[in-house]
Amino acid sequence: MRIQDRTFIISGGSSGLGLATAQDLYSQGAYIALLDMNTDAGEDAVTQLGKERARFFEVDVSDTDSIASAVEGAVKWVKDTGMELGGVISAAGVGNPGKIVDRNNEPLPISAIDFVLNINLRGTLDLVRQCVPHMTQVKPLGPDGERGVIVLVSSSAAFDGQPGQVAYAASKGAVASLTLPLARDLAQYGIRVVTIAPSLFESGMSAMMSDKVRKSLERVMEFPRRAGRGEEFAKLVRQGVENVMLNGVVVRLDGAMRMPSRL
Ligand SMILES: NC(=O)c1ccc[n+]([C@@H]2O[C@H](COP(=O)([O-])OP(=O)(O)OC[C@H]3O[C@@H](n4cnc5c(N)ncnc54)[C@H](O)[C@@H]3O)[C@@H](O)[C@H]2O)c1
Repeated sequence: MRIQDRTFIISGGSSGLGLATAQDLYSQGAYIALLDMNTDAGEDAVTQLGKERARFFEVDVSDTDSIASAVEGAVKWVKDTGMELGGVISAAGVGNPGKIVDRNNEPLPISAIDFVLNINLRGTLDLVRQCVPHMTQVKPLGPDGERGVIVLVSSSAAFDGQPGQVAYAASKGAVASLTLPLARDLAQYGIRVVTIAPSLFESGMSAMMSDKVRKSLERVMEFPRRAGRGEEFAKLVRQGVENVMLNGVVVRLDGAMRMPSRL
C-alpha cells in the first residue's frame, strides 16, 4: 500500500510504539488520524507532527460507541482532505500483570482479566470491525487492486508469557491467532493483515516495569542486548504497509529473545 497521501488510523498513537509509527508514516507523506484515550499527549503529538496532515480523535477502545465516534470523525476528515484510508494500526494496549492466584490464595479478580481483554483483544477487533466497512469502499490501487492494510500488535507474551501474564498473554495470543482468519476474510477486498509481536521495547508501558522484570528480560537477550526502539518497530510497520506479499503473518520482532519463566 502506498503511504504518501493515504490516511492511517493509529490507535494508541499518543505514546510509545503507536506514536513512533505515526512519526514514521508521517515522514513518508501519510495523513495520520491518532486515536487514544490520552488526549493531552495526543494533541501534543499532533502539534509536533503538523496539523495539516494529522488529527487527534479521543477514544476508549474498550467502548464500542467511543470507537464509533472516533472512526466517524476520522472518516469525515478523510472525506474533507480527499486522502483515502490506507490502513489501520491497532497499537492501543495495556499490561496490568497479575498471577492467577495471589499469596493469600485469592484468585485474580475477573475485573482485572476483563480490563486487559477488553482493551487488547476486544478493542482491537472492535476497531478493526468498525474501520473495515470504510476500507472496503476505497478505490483499489495498483496492479493487485490493494485497498489497505491492517497492522495488529501482539507480543512475545503470546508465545512465551511470563508469570503474572495470563490475561495479557491470552489477549496477545488471541491477536496472533485471529491474524490469519482476518486476512482470509479480507482477501477478496484486497486488504491485508500483518501482526507484529515485539519483545521488550522502550515505551510508556515498559517504563512502568520493575527493575527486576527488566533485568530478567535483558539477561536472556541474544542480540542486540537491549530493548528495542520505537523507530525499529515503526520500520517493520512501514514494511508491512508497503510489501504486498506480507499477509496473514505474525512477525516476531525480538532479536531472538525468548522470555524466561523465572524473573
Ligand atoms: N513496549 C513493549 O515492550 C511491548 C512489547 C510487546 C507488545 N507491546 C504492545 O505494543 C502496544 C503499544 O504499547 P506501548 O509499549 O507503546 O505502550 P504505551 O503505554 O507507550 O502506549 C499505549 C497507548 O495505548 C493507549 N491506551 C491504553 N488503553 C487505551 C484505551 N482503552 N483506549 C485507547 N487508548 C488506550 C495509551 O493511552 C497509550 O497511549 C500495546 O498493544 C502493547 O501491548 C509492547
